Amino acid sequence: MNKKGFIFDLDGVIVDTAKYHFLAWQRLAKGLDINFTEEENEQLKGVSRVRSLEKILAWGNKTISQELFDELMGKKNEEYLSFIAEMDTNEILPDVPRVLKFLKEMDQPISLGSASKNARTILERVNLKSSFNAIVDGNDVSKAKPDPEVFLIAAKEIDVKPEDCIVFEDSVAGVTAANTANMISIGIGSKDVLGHANYVFKDFTEISNDLIKSLIEN
Ligand code: BG6
Ligand code: MG
Repeated sequence: MNKKGFIFDLDGVIVDTAKYHFLAWQRLAKGLDINFTEEENEQLKGVSRVRSLEKILAWGNKTISQELFDELMGKKNEEYLSFIAEMDTNEILPDVPRVLKFLKEMDQPISLGSASKNARTILERVNLKSSFNAIVDGNDVSKAKPDPEVFLIAAKEIDVKPEDCIVFEDSVAGVTAANTANMISIGIGSKDVLGHANYVFKDFTEISNDLIKSLIEN
């Protein structure tokens, strides 16, 4: 049996935390008198916490002190963590457990490649930590997506060459990172947003075990 490396993003791929990031940022932006659209929010997906706040401030044409910047970063995460605290296995996105189980049965190594510094906490909350052979998150990288660093480390940790890796991603920045890493990118979401991915599916219900088999074999 061939071995491929399967790398999963977390937010918006395994769990629907994208909505919590959005809510927390939106509230914070409102407090600064900045409004941002759903479309602008797409640009925050997959992007690090620091970079997200920088982008929001730029949209609102605001400059703030480093002290306030740090305070707002802390505030955003506190609010985000209050949402996370309520999470349970019900928030795992449809058919993710089926795909993880099938990959395990097929003896394929699985990595997490997330920008989030809260990734381990979230995986624990939804009881999926043990499904991963390696976890690489925002604490392990110095360059955020769209830089490929997180996926390259995720591949290395499971000892699979980048060109033999398949990445599941819901963000524009993450698909770019996977492409730059020379991996196969599978967009989870809309073709309109993720048109640069090698394949795009609405969610994992559209990814059959046969399709996964063909990814392993080819
Ligand atoms: C990514 C999310 O997975 O993690 C981004 O898509 C988020 O929205 C980033 O900003 C960093 O997450 P955290 O949990 O470290 O603030
Ligand atoms: Mg994501």
